[in-house]
Amino acid sequence: MGTRGGGLHPDVERELFSAECLAVRVEEVGRTLAAELSGKRPLLLGVLRGAFVFTADLARALEPVPEGTEVGFLRASSYGAGTESSGQVRVDVSPPDVRGRHVVLVEDIVDTGRTLAVLVARLRAEGAESVTTCTLLDKAARRVVDVRVDHSCFACPDEFVVGYGLDFDERYRTLPYIGVLKPAAYSGLSSD
Ligand code: PRP
Repeated sequence: MGTRGGGLHPDVERELFSAECLAVRVEEVGRTLAAELSGKRPLLLGVLRGAFVFTADLARALEPVPEGTEVGFLRASSYGAGTESSGQVRVDVSPPDVRGRHVVLVEDIVDTGRTLAVLVARLRAEGAESVTTCTLLDKAARRVVDVRVDHSCFACPDEFVVGYGLDFDERYRTLPYIGVLKPAAYSGLSSD
């Protein structure tokens, strides 16, 4: 079933992408990015918190590792808890110095596109030489802002997904797979 230690979490309706499937695709994208970034001393910037797992795996999947690769994080979040994006993006932790750097912005999911748009604009304003966007999941059906996604590991159906870094109300981030959350889990009827 692709989950460590057996079955799915009781709040998960079904597995969408198994741990094995994620690993294979992340390695593939890592090789593509590595070839593209060769000689560019890239700075991988993961967007906390959701992208912490993907960023770690993607960084280790860069093959061959471009000379001078660095990894950093910034933090962005939409206001409030819940299953719907509020439309306002807050950048809580500033990115490291990006002046003259080839930045790869690493997201777990692009939904409305608001977060990515805000972050790309900010990195450009702060002097990044280039900004490449890379997301694990692309929920294109929900797009509100026209933002360019350069690399996407998987198209994501318009369902509430958790795991591999993605949460609902700060839960489920540690699941090794991506799963669809049972509606009962986000209507306050969670099983644990
Ligand atoms: C999620 C996700 C993206 C953003 C995408 O972050 O990690 O950053 O939403 O949504 P958008 O395309 O509609 O802007 P969230 O605000 O849930 O914070 P988290 O990463 O800490 O879970």
